[in-house]
Amino acid sequence: MPRTTALDPLFTAVDGTSFTDRHLANLAAGTLAAVRVPDFLDRRTCASALSALDRLPTVDYDPARVPTPIVRFGPALNDYRSQDGRLDAGRYWRDAETARTAWQRAGMRPDPIAVSLARLGSAWGAAVAPATITGRPVFGGTLREINAGALIHYDDINREFPTGLFDQEVLAQLAFNVWVSVPEDGGATTVWRHRWEPADEQQRQAYGYRPEAVEHCQHVDLTPQLGDGLLFNPANFHPVAPNPTGTGRRIAFAFFLGLTTTGQLIAWS
Ligand SMILES: [Fe+2]
Repeated sequence: MPRTTALDPLFTAVDGTSFTDRHLANLAAGTLAAVRVPDFLDRRTCASALSALDRLPTVDYDPARVPTPIVRFGPALNDYRSQDGRLDAGRYWRDAETARTAWQRAGMRPDPIAVSLARLGSAWGAAVAPATITGRPVFGGTLREINAGALIHYDDINREFPTGLFDQEVLAQLAFNVWVSVPEDGGATTVWRHRWEPADEQQRQAYGYRPEAVEHCQHVDLTPQLGDGLLFNPANFHPVAPNPTGTGRRIAFAFFLGLTTTGQLIAWS
């Protein structure tokens, strides 16, 4: 692989006071690496979300499949995918309904997912709609506690479900995260300027890829601060670094946004 000799001047992480339609468009187009909005959620909202966590049922990923522990609340569609790229619908909808009920019972006020979706909708100029499958809205607001890091991977609904999943057609996918707890240091999300290519399959490692897949690629590192909102294009390879001291909790609410063929923004997890 050729060494990087010149940098892409547009592949940067920008900080803003709010997300804008231009941020969303540039992330969707793939020129911009990431946009961070410090204090997207205020301290009070983070604290109330964190205290409500104890009222949410969380589960661990299967350690045979995911080598570092990741605690989660809420189903992610990708975890209900069969070998041939179809949704295990029975299992998914059952878990989605359970999560929805638990979320309502937890009674988070303000609701960090609702607040985030509303602000992203005003940036875009139209409300964010849930992605739907035969008219039924999918679950859109997971929580992930990742203290020991996550492997380099990418997320792309069109590759995960090649025969289509939603009623809407997705042209570009963005990942949104907002942190309600952060470790003292570490826990950075790195976004590599690299999208999946067939040769990457030689570097497979569990659910992700070995570092050789992104060797010599340009990247940005984003160490989360409490309350940060972050948007990036998850088609770019991205790992999460472990919390180095092993102390502190790295907890984010997360969902995906999709820009559709009709110019709508839809959300799912
Ligand atoms: Fe991801």
